[in-house]
Amino acid sequence: MALREIVTVPNDVLRRKARKITEFDKELQKTIDDMVETMREAPGVGLAAPQVGLLDRLVVVEYEEDDEKEDSPKKLYVVVNPEIISASEETEMGIEGCLSVPGLVGEVERSLEVVVRGQNRRGQPVKIKADGWLARIFQHEIDHLDGILYTDRATKVWKPTPEEENIAAD
Ligand code: NI
Repeated sequence: MALREIVTVPNDVLRRKARKITEFDKELQKTIDDMVETMREAPGVGLAAPQVGLLDRLVVVEYEEDDEKEDSPKKLYVVVNPEIISASEETEMGIEGCLSVPGLVGEVERSLEVVVRGQNRRGQPVKIKADGWLARIFQHEIDHLDGILYTDRATKVWKPTPEEENIAAD
């Protein structure tokens, strides 16, 4: 495994639409492993392929299984060609950061619950029902695949205070 360089604004790769993945080959496996390592090292709670310079529809997410519970184990999600197939009308505001937009955080309104459909690393279908922060992370990551940054959706963006420096980025 190897760390990949995280692309930051204003790199154009962050503004383009990523392509659907059709080959579940060795190269894809290596990309996935490298992205997981890069996300953990950052550290971040998610990473989308354009953030490592690849215009492929692929995201990795690692977050607590149940963020309402203390010491909830972290769960790793690798989703190829992810799509949000349903999103709750109910939304909530939350503060987001992004590894590709260093030095800023912003307040973003997101659906409280989403259902994500896609494929796993072997190409088998997967469906994930996410709520709360996990739902937020998936919405943030899938936006990256369409060239959308959280700053496009944020009601306000600011330089984080020392306490806000710990906000999870993805
Ligand atoms: Ni991001």
